[in-house]
Amino acid sequence: MSAGLLLAEHEAAPAGPAPGQAVPRRDDAAILTPLFQDDLIARERDGVLRLYKALTRDRPLFRDANGSWVVSSFEQGCAVLSDPAYVAQPPLPAEEAAVYAPILATMLLRDGDAHAALRRHFAPLFKTQRMDRLHAFMDQDIATCVAALPASAFDAGASLAHHLPARMACVLMGLAPEHAPRLVALTAPVLRLISGTPLPPTSMLALLQASRVAIQALATLMARQAPATLHYLDIDPHALATHALSDGTEHASCASNLCLLFVAAYTTSMLSLGNTLALATQRPGLWTQMAQEPSRIPRTVAELGRLAPAAQALQRYAAHDLTLGDVPLRAGEPVVVMVAAANRDPRAFEHPDEVDLGRHARTLTFGAGPHGCVGVGLARRQLGGLLAALTSRYPRLAPLARPSRGLQIGTFLGYDRLWLGVPAESAKAPAPVRQPNA
Ligand code: HEM
Repeated sequence: MSAGLLLAEHEAAPAGPAPGQAVPRRDDAAILTPLFQDDLIARERDGVLRLYKALTRDRPLFRDANGSWVVSSFEQGCAVLSDPAYVAQPPLPAEEAAVYAPILATMLLRDGDAHAALRRHFAPLFKTQRMDRLHAFMDQDIATCVAALPASAFDAGASLAHHLPARMACVLMGLAPEHAPRLVALTAPVLRLISGTPLPPTSMLALLQASRVAIQALATLMARQAPATLHYLDIDPHALATHALSDGTEHASCASNLCLLFVAAYTTSMLSLGNTLALATQRPGLWTQMAQEPSRIPRTVAELGRLAPAAQALQRYAAHDLTLGDVPLRAGEPVVVMVAAANRDPRAFEHPDEVDLGRHARTLTFGAGPHGCVGVGLARRQLGGLLAALTSRYPRLAPLARPSRGLQIGTFLGYDRLWLGVPAESAKAPAPVRQPNA
């Protein structure tokens, strides 16, 4: 389905069922579903941006044909994500909840006190001393990687995005970076499960089984190779490996959450890296500005993240009957916050499609409220460090005609291949002079 067709459907679509009314079958007149299952956003970024714009302008809150409340207004998106009355855990019957236990045990899908306790438990991973060591590793890794790039053209997907974040995630966990490719492959089913891809139950069950294998393998590896990290988190390595899949136990919850941390750390960083480099190199003035004034890089990272967030949408459920704006919602009804649309809401951002380094507005790129990203500092540091190294080595860099390829995993969006190169006319131009405070 093309984004144009999707947009046309959206414009013609009825407002969806009233609260409490029977929800139509999934395939009747889906609006959101094709966006998150058919690789549509990756193939038709511009068309989908037009759809987002139309949603924010005309229907900032509506109920789609699947029965999901779709929020594209920035203000309402912030309100939903910040209010504990909207929970992350889907309302499942007990038997189904038991089947999905390893994924439901992750902090991403827990709420209230249990969720807060999990965040506290894993907070020591991000303490200053560990971060200092991790930053030193990241800086060195970026330097080595950028120095090894060819002089005139490279695929930033293969040589940077698929490489640096997964290695950073390994070191965060206390593992050697060499484990990265195997762990990325192993945890792919976990990523698919948390990605919001609409899937038939048989596929979900297959993914769940593969996710159990990943959780057990990561727990075993950490018990053997990262006991210091586990002791630091007050987790017994032997018990972790032994009880990784004993649902409902404390060690099973730890194993699931360690796996989630790895996946959350590398995936969104990998996707953001492609999105940021694509936008930055499409704007030659912006790239040159960063090369000349590296102090602008942090604001550039924030602004490009606003325009192309890795997580295009976030899902919540009404914990009880409540009112959103002036619309009544029933307990359990799903609410989808369209982050990518809300981040360009003209009511919150003047000239929303422009890169404006003067803005200091908050965005939804890293979520908001109780589930806001725990790795935001790390992610920004890696993106900023990479931009600094690349603009220093390539004062001019542009997208190449060679085919790049988008990468969409459900609601997650980035690039698989992204070809960049030094424009021919500037290959011999002298490098711009750095500012004294660079
Ligand atoms: C540019 C890179 C990143 C982006 C765009 C990003 C984005 C997000 C977003 C939007 C959420 C909110 C999810 C929700 O509300 O449902 C989130 C949560 C989370 N992120 Fe990140 N993230 C990034 C990097 C990282 C890194 C480096 C780590 C780990 C070191 C990490 C760990 C997490 C975890 C564990 C959560 C779940 C928090 C919770 O549910 O309480 N993220 N991230």
